[in-house]
Amino acid sequence: MIIGGSASQKLAAKVAAELNENLCPIETFKFPDGERYLRIRGEIEEEAVVIQSTGFPQDENLIELFLIIKTLKSLGVKTIKTVIPYFGYGRQEKRFKSGEAISAQIIANLLELAGTNQLFCVNLHENNMTNFFNIPVHEISAIPFIAQYLEGTLEDPIIIAPDKGALDHAQELANLMNCDFDYLEKIRISPEVVETKPKNINIHGKSTVIIDDIISTGGTIVNASKILKNLGAEKIIVACVHPVMVDDALIKIFASGVDDVIATDTLRSDVSVVSLAPLIADALKK
Ligand code: R5P
Repeated sequence: MIIGGSASQKLAAKVAAELNENLCPIETFKFPDGERYLRIRGEIEEEAVVIQSTGFPQDENLIELFLIIKTLKSLGVKTIKTVIPYFGYGRQEKRFKSGEAISAQIIANLLELAGTNQLFCVNLHENNMTNFFNIPVHEISAIPFIAQYLEGTLEDPIIIAPDKGALDHAQELANLMNCDFDYLEKIRISPEVVETKPKNINIHGKSTVIIDDIISTGGTIVNASKILKNLGAEKIIVACVHPVMVDDALIKIFASGVDDVIATDTLRSDVSVVSLAPLIADALKK
């Protein structure tokens, strides 16, 4: 049985269809005081797959996820595979300043405590996050699906990572698309402000693809696109795995002159055109 939380209903339905499994309905709403109600409405089976991204509203989606997992366990489900396509709180995976909560680790502990037996995630922000778990964690890369989507649509592409952190993704995408890649140097000033150093990259006559794992405020991509425009880029396509897209991030990105933005459906957005349902279904089969 497959259960989709509020944040991932469509993706869960697609995964259920791929696997030819029952999609178990849930009933969930908020009480007038803001607390969440949850009821599992389908037949209980021995094994359950719960799919829920924990993007905005992160805390509500997390609480709902804990309620689903714990309720399934108490109703007698033996094995619970939890799929968190976008793992919220993943960017606070260490103590950057003394006294800070290591939020990613705390969420990991709570997922295990609730009763998750195996975890499936797509492109975690930091790979070391898997060390926070004592259960098997399967990290899936969406980059081959992004490559497949772009295949044949671009003439003479070059892949650009907008910061060093995205270099692995750029390299993976460039290998799959059989083209060159490069990266820009970025410094984060605050959660909302980033600075990117200009760099001389030969992109003359090429289709430029900027790839990142997350687009949040859009600042990283806007800076990169401005630099690439100054270098004479004719066409700029932006690709990301997790379209967090805070407020008007997407509008700012288009206003900076990019031609198109594509993302996967780990999170719902106007640009979530690459469905990872087949990829997640395959990972669950193994
Ligand atoms: C940072 O390390 C991530 O890979 C992204 O570059 C970052 O989250 C993007 O944030 P924003 O869209 O707010 O610049």
